[in-house]
Amino acid sequence: MTLDRKPVRIDPRIPWFEEVRRLLSPMAGVTDRPFREICRRFGADMGFCEFASASGLTYGGEATWKLVDTEGEEGLVGVQIFGNDPEHMATAARLLRDKRMDVLDINFGCPAKKVVKKCGGSALLADVPLLEKIVRAVIAESAVPVSAKIRTGWDADSVNYREVGLLLQELGVVWVTMHGRTRAQKFTGRADWDGIADLVGILDIPVIGNGDVVDGASYRAMVEHTRCHGVMIGRGAIGNPWIFEQMRAVDENRPVRAPDFAAMCATTCDHIRGEVALRGEKQGCLVVRKHIARTFRGYPGAAALRRRLYATTDSATMIAILREAAAAGGPPLPARHDTEPIREDAR
Ligand SMILES: Cc1cc2nc3c(=O)[nH]c(=O)nc-3n(C[C@H](O)[C@H](O)[C@H](O)COP(=O)(O)O)c2cc1C
Repeated sequence: MTLDRKPVRIDPRIPWFEEVRRLLSPMAGVTDRPFREICRRFGADMGFCEFASASGLTYGGEATWKLVDTEGEEGLVGVQIFGNDPEHMATAARLLRDKRMDVLDINFGCPAKKVVKKCGGSALLADVPLLEKIVRAVIAESAVPVSAKIRTGWDADSVNYREVGLLLQELGVVWVTMHGRTRAQKFTGRADWDGIADLVGILDIPVIGNGDVVDGASYRAMVEHTRCHGVMIGRGAIGNPWIFEQMRAVDENRPVRAPDFAAMCATTCDHIRGEVALRGEKQGCLVVRKHIARTFRGYPGAAALRRRLYATTDSATMIAILREAAAAGGPPLPARHDTEPIREDAR
């Protein structure tokens, strides 16, 4: 059965968004270009760069500009900026005009201390007049449509996603992504899917649901619960780009399958190659570790495999180890790949 989603008003500048259902979240330290490309290969409709500081872009920081390198990238890609200074945000939007990107997203959700301390990210949920200035400034300067990513509010006593969502819509933001937690919650507790459903109900523009979707079953559950236009995947994609294939299977009414062990090894090899090309041998090998830890979690023999892979920062050695493991045949699937639908009350 096709998932029931609320009909929405799609901005005429982004007709392609009609079909966008499965999005890779922006994640600092994770969603670099090699990983975005791998996620697209497995069915992500759109990938986001790691967030970039508007001040860093304004002052020409090389490291910040590297985060938004999308030159020649195929498929839909979003750039995300954060900051608390409307002028810097406007300048960043202007400087980004030549970038290859399909949307410019504003981060109003980051709970990290170093971002919030400078009143960026989720801190702006507690200062709606400044948030409004920022959105106006960015929209005025951006060459591409602007979207926004929010949390439900600053803390339990100041949940204001309704006010913020309606304001964003009025200002001309083309869609709103909501992570169903307050800033105070950071990543604790459960994401508030009722809040996402509520926001879907009151906005005419698309709402992208975000929080705690980790497989095909929880994807289905979130869409059924909220009727959101699409779902953004963060942690559930780390070491698990196959989640997008599982989500696509749900949308296309096909059985949801777990990836096989050899495919996991082969994808990890590709990922290593991509990171090494981007960052050089050592850094490239190191950055894939956080994915490896998750990819093979729960497999019998995973700890030994991980130890061997972590013992080296030579990509050829890592690839040889993975090929050997794949050739030895896959161990039985661990329980986390159970594809039975997760009941709402069990998530
Ligand atoms: C390592 C990491 C880095 C993140 N970086 C960003 C970021 O740059 N921009 C952003 O909007 N959210 C960022 N997030 C939040 C995620 O995009 C997402 O909203 C959050 O993890 C909840 O979704 P999930 O349950 O699917 O992980 C980050 C999360 C993690 C775990």
